[in-house]
Amino acid sequence: MAADTRAKAVTLDLRRRLLSSSCRLFFPEDPVKIIRGQGQYLYDEQGREYLDCINNVAHVGHCHPTVVQAAHEQNLVLNTNSRYLHDNIVDYAQRLSETLPEQLSVFYFLNSGSEANDLALRLARQYTGHQDVVVLDHAYHGHLSSLIDISPYKFRNLGGQKEWVHVAPLPDTYRGPYREDHPNPAEAYANEVKHVISSAQEKGRKIAAFFAESLPSVSGQIIPPAGYFSQVAEHIRRAGGLFVADEIQVGFGRIGKHFWAFQLEGEDFVPDIVTMGKSIGNGHPVACMATTQAVSRAFEATGVEYFNTFGGNPVSCAVGLAVLDVLKTEQLQAHATNVGSFLLEHLSQQKAKHPIIGDVRGTGLFIGVDLIKDETLRTPATEEAEYLVSRLKENYILLSTDGPGRNILKFKPPMCFSVDNAQHVVAKLDDILTDMEEKVRSCETLRIKHPPGKPDLAPPPPADPQHFNLYLLD
Ligand SMILES: Cc1ncc(COP(=O)(O)O)c(C=O)c1O
Repeated sequence: MAADTRAKAVTLDLRRRLLSSSCRLFFPEDPVKIIRGQGQYLYDEQGREYLDCINNVAHVGHCHPTVVQAAHEQNLVLNTNSRYLHDNIVDYAQRLSETLPEQLSVFYFLNSGSEANDLALRLARQYTGHQDVVVLDHAYHGHLSSLIDISPYKFRNLGGQKEWVHVAPLPDTYRGPYREDHPNPAEAYANEVKHVISSAQEKGRKIAAFFAESLPSVSGQIIPPAGYFSQVAEHIRRAGGLFVADEIQVGFGRIGKHFWAFQLEGEDFVPDIVTMGKSIGNGHPVACMATTQAVSRAFEATGVEYFNTFGGNPVSCAVGLAVLDVLKTEQLQAHATNVGSFLLEHLSQQKAKHPIIGDVRGTGLFIGVDLIKDETLRTPATEEAEYLVSRLKENYILLSTDGPGRNILKFKPPMCFSVDNAQHVVAKLDDILTDMEEKVRSCETLRIKHPPGKPDLAPPPPADPQHFNLYLLD
């Protein structure tokens, strides 16, 4: 608890000395020290309240008492690995199976989304006997070496693309090659995947899997055209590969209409593997991979044990069960639909008012606001987005940007986010955009104003194309 009383500058200094600078802070020019969370709010060391619009891990709300209590009670009794019989793990698998199509009936428990995707890759390779993977451009699937290799979001800045990885265009109907005016963007984008598969096969490569987020979030809150994933699955399966749905950011009722985002494709659409993380444990490290009997049997046939020291332990499963209970008792999926529709509608009204807003898209509490410099080219308004997010933070609202141009405002708040919260954010956004427009008209420079003395607190990290510390409008 001593850390709570430590001055922010001291914490920052310790962090700089003891942690790698690869572990970045939000708002590096003036980081926030958070010492407490409750519901959709975070509190800094001075007791200031921030509205959290981005934490999709604290799914049912920061420190939800039911989840905290479940972990505490189980911790008092037992926590051990899954080699002993215990009811929590089977109860949890049972409850998860009730949310999924019946074909997805075998569960593996792990500690992180990365572990879940890495295991999905192993299973796909084992089942198909193939090695290669098709992914969407700008995707991110985790921090393990195997997943950096299938994450264009990362590997484009590193050693480049491996020969076993094939990248298909992002099905982005706002900015991609096939847009809202295309007669059949779902087919056109799925044909791109087909083409990627054929080119790989011509080189003698064999496809083990297609990995995609059911709604690409890291790539900028993309809503693929309806029917796209079903057609992709056909192409992939025809090539002998499996369809892996990464639900790590978008599962567990966030999208409102359905519990899982892949269900937007219709009842008949069933991935071969679904990976879960983040929201599943409300902040406790839990993850899961669900698959079919056939895929699992092929993995089991190797005879090699799958052992994960912490995966599926009684505490993690108690936490996972509590999250499912809260989602149900507080009807948070329906709540996400209601609040999300309200937020979407009000953000769309802002689009009519502010030309910098090029597109507003989303479903439930998964919403993106695409900021542009000009209507014709839809050039990403990267610096303006960073500036806006920084101004929102000055107003105690935490929002982030993503997408290849880092110009998409990402709304993915805890599911208890309210209509009042939505109203508040939209009003502040409106004020700041109006002020920005005023500054541009008067040719004033947009520049983040550091609190007095603050620039010394955290000078921006050295040259990084993704980081801006000067915000100038063209
Ligand atoms: C879509 C997606 N998949 C996988 C991961 C990896 O999850 P974790 O950080 O829990 O390993 C992330 C994390 O940001 C993610 O956003």
